[in-house]
Amino acid sequence: MAAQDQVSQVPEVKEVPPGFENAHADSAKYRAMYQESITDPDKFWGREGKRLDWITPYTKVKNTDFTFGHVQIKWFEDGVLNAAVNCVDRHLETRGEQTAIIFEPDDPETPAQHITYRELSEKVNRFANVLLSQGVMRGDRVVIYLPMIPEAAYAMLACARIGAIHSIVFAGFSPDALANRINDCGAKLVITADTAPRGGRRTPLKANADAALLHCSDKVRCLVVKHTGDQITWIDGRDVDVKAMMENVSPECPPRPMNAEDPLFILYTSGSTGKPKGVVHSTGGYLVYAAMTHQYTFDYHDGDVFWCTADVGWVTGHSYIIYGPLANGATTVMFEGVPTYPDAGRFWAVCEKHKVNQFYTAPTAIRALMGQGSEWVEKYDLSDLKVLGSVGEPINPEAWAWYDKYVGKGKCPIVDTFWQTETGGHMLTPLPGAIPTKPGSATRPFFGVKPVVLDPQTAVRQDETEAEGVLCIADSWPGQMRTVWGDHERFQETYFSQYKGYYFTGDGCRRDKDGYYWITGRVDDVINVSGHRMGTAEVESALVAHQAVAEAAVVGYPHELKGQGIYAYVTLMNDVEPSDELRKELEKWVRTEIGPIAKPDIIQWAPGLPKTRSGKIMRRILRKIAENDFGALGDISTLADPSVVDDLIANRGNA
Ligand code: WTA
Repeated sequence: MAAQDQVSQVPEVKEVPPGFENAHADSAKYRAMYQESITDPDKFWGREGKRLDWITPYTKVKNTDFTFGHVQIKWFEDGVLNAAVNCVDRHLETRGEQTAIIFEPDDPETPAQHITYRELSEKVNRFANVLLSQGVMRGDRVVIYLPMIPEAAYAMLACARIGAIHSIVFAGFSPDALANRINDCGAKLVITADTAPRGGRRTPLKANADAALLHCSDKVRCLVVKHTGDQITWIDGRDVDVKAMMENVSPECPPRPMNAEDPLFILYTSGSTGKPKGVVHSTGGYLVYAAMTHQYTFDYHDGDVFWCTADVGWVTGHSYIIYGPLANGATTVMFEGVPTYPDAGRFWAVCEKHKVNQFYTAPTAIRALMGQGSEWVEKYDLSDLKVLGSVGEPINPEAWAWYDKYVGKGKCPIVDTFWQTETGGHMLTPLPGAIPTKPGSATRPFFGVKPVVLDPQTAVRQDETEAEGVLCIADSWPGQMRTVWGDHERFQETYFSQYKGYYFTGDGCRRDKDGYYWITGRVDDVINVSGHRMGTAEVESALVAHQAVAEAAVVGYPHELKGQGIYAYVTLMNDVEPSDELRKELEKWVRTEIGPIAKPDIIQWAPGLPKTRSGKIMRRILRKIAENDFGALGDISTLADPSVVDDLIANRGNA
């Protein structure tokens, strides 16, 4: 960090910046609305559901049960609507010529595209007709493996238009990871692009899809967006040129009326076990929740330009690049590139160029840019910014203060939004102008969200204001996931079995004297690397799939830029000698098995792992060693062989 960037004082509480007015909710209104949302959810959500256009209005609002064994979540269950109509068609009359999507390409020299709602409508209709021509029907699954280009938005909305269920796979995932997801959801079709430019480099997406499809049914078709024009292999009869097809189909495709509870999309996410789960989101409840949170959390107003820097491959991109903003008739920015290309000023150059009003990013990006010095920010005119957002991990106070001072110039409230792939939208977040913020705290619950803090061991609810424990949610909200694709048992088991009667987030938290929530991080085997969620078990299974590896244990450790880094303890097969080449090979191996985001930061050769006498790996000890916290190892007398711990400490690895 450059010396002049030292932000010496991090305030404990930051009051609403003077002159900032939130037209949606002040503090009193927030309290009154929150109260109503909790005491009378039917009335509250019955009213809020009307923010969407319904083909058949709902008569029932909430029908939910958190009882283990009977978990069922339904919202607006007899309502009929179409998500694409809500995100596109209904805006045509009033804002057909308004920009819906600003596409900012990776290369700053390539002109941005401004796609109006009318143009978006035509593209989505044509894309939908291409899908129909390939035999995609209501309820079919379509995997989308695309870069951050407008076609990703067209593809999502085209699926929604015809009632197909999309499942986006982040373009950074490997062919193996892609194949697993295609097979798990039984996709009929994959949509990809030739190559994906990012930070001046190109990812061979089509080649990856080709490799993945070798492991899938030969009935799966492949739609290809020719984006860069790079050379690709073409398989006649299987591959389809989407752009060419779009020219040849009708620009009109009637929307399919969908039930509110019909799945809108599946998104795979990591959990404690090896296999990622297909999180299923609904059409009605999800869209109501995405739209409402987008409007209130960011204090979004007609005419504002909204930029969420996430990738559409993650839930943040689903809810806050596409569904929330477009349902609200917003102008949303889609950025193909990375924060540091061509230089560390790119984010701010884009903010200036497109006069961005609300900017939403992750702490890891802020830390990386903070390290490059504030001069990169100061070069640009950021006077249009009104609200700044943060998501993905707790924001450390230094990064918060830098964001506030250099980006927001002290006048933009920072909304630290806590939520999950499973929750569909924000769960804990300040409302700008209505709730004073505290750096590092996601503050208070959004409307309809009933957080509770439980003792992790006894499951007793901590009702004192000041409390610490695990974060659970006591009742349903419309954006909640409905099930795990193809495995409702796993859904109940994962989220409702440990703390009966509650939805368990997997996060630890603290509630302070003012009732503000502070997320303390995952209490399960999920780690958060640069805001990307990963299961340690996934990385372990990738490592042990290598022939040299006998056993592996992976834990997270504090990493200055990434939040958490990946620390892997690897036990080699008897006849294999450790070497730097092998270390590199294993790193590469994990990249190809899962993707670059899963590459271990540290690999430590471990002749033995600390295990209980029953053979269970004591991860607590491995975490402490990875954290360099040898004083707090706790009781190691129950280990089968306590001496392995000394060896691990003596040989602790370095990044
Ligand atoms: C973490 C991302 C602290 C948390 C939307 C959660 C956060 C996991 C915050 C979900 C935040 C997300 N403060 N921690 N503001 N936001 N997390 O599914 O551990 O990729 O359980 O969803 O990220 O990650 P996911």
